[in-house]
Amino acid sequence: MARVALVTGGSRGIGEAISKALKSAGYEVAATYAGNDEAAKKFTEETGIKTYKWNVADYDSSKAGIEQVEADLGPIDVVVANAGITRDAPFHKMTPEQWHQVIDTNLTGVFNTVHPVWPGMRERKFGRVIVISSINGQKGQFGQVNYAATKAGDLGIVKSLAQEGARAGITANAICPGYIATEMVMAMPEKVRESIVGGIPAGRLGEPEEIARCVVFLAGEDAGFINGSTITANGAQHLV
Ligand code: CAA
Repeated sequence: MARVALVTGGSRGIGEAISKALKSAGYEVAATYAGNDEAAKKFTEETGIKTYKWNVADYDSSKAGIEQVEADLGPIDVVVANAGITRDAPFHKMTPEQWHQVIDTNLTGVFNTVHPVWPGMRERKFGRVIVISSINGQKGQFGQVNYAATKAGDLGIVKSLAQEGARAGITANAICPGYIATEMVMAMPEKVRESIVGGIPAGRLGEPEEIARCVVFLAGEDAGFINGSTITANGAQHLV
């Protein structure tokens, strides 16, 4: 029977590429989205991948949503915590609201996504937790105190989960994408984006499929000894 994979924020951007790549690799995939019904509908029509709507920042909605996915598709073996937002502003202009929105979605959202599937993974002695962090969690970024804090937090989450899950056959790893050609990056002021791209030795933005490839690798049955690690995919922009 096909393994079941859940991808949060899985109908657009990097998440869309991840959902499609997992489906092509033989997984039964469920993709979540927060608000854009039209994009989700189009995505399901084009890919045949089921979508589910809930806010990852809310624990009860996440838990209920995950129960529904498991009722429909079976126990979740692979969870990809990908959903994320930006609310960029220099620190002196950042509002408490901008801080909390990003923390609630990007960081607490990872807890809310992984916590409900964790007991089942422990019982079944298999699980793959993959968290989409960011280059900016590794190096920080002007205008992203909130976002960088969450993405650095992701690395602490997977390193701790890796130690807790290892004996139960569960791995937890992070991927740190650099600047990828998605709506999120294209929404940046053009001048800022151009200056960032100028600093990428590869001379280009990354493609969502290049991140999806890392996810499929980490999700594999034969990736069980890769645990608590970070895959960096950033065109050599920042080397750790
Ligand atoms: N380093 C140093 N100074 C910088 C700077 C930088 N990287 N970027 C801007 N500045 C300076 C400007 O030169 C300007 O200086 P002056 O006032 O002396 O002219 C000043 O900061 C701009 O200040 P403002 O008060 O005008 O800033 P703003 O309110 O317009 O906000 C910003 C600017 C929104 C933070 C903008 O700089 C920005 O969007 N930065 C990019 C943030 C970024 O990289 N976001 C990534 C989004 S994609 C993503 O997050 C995905 C991923 O994982 C990679």
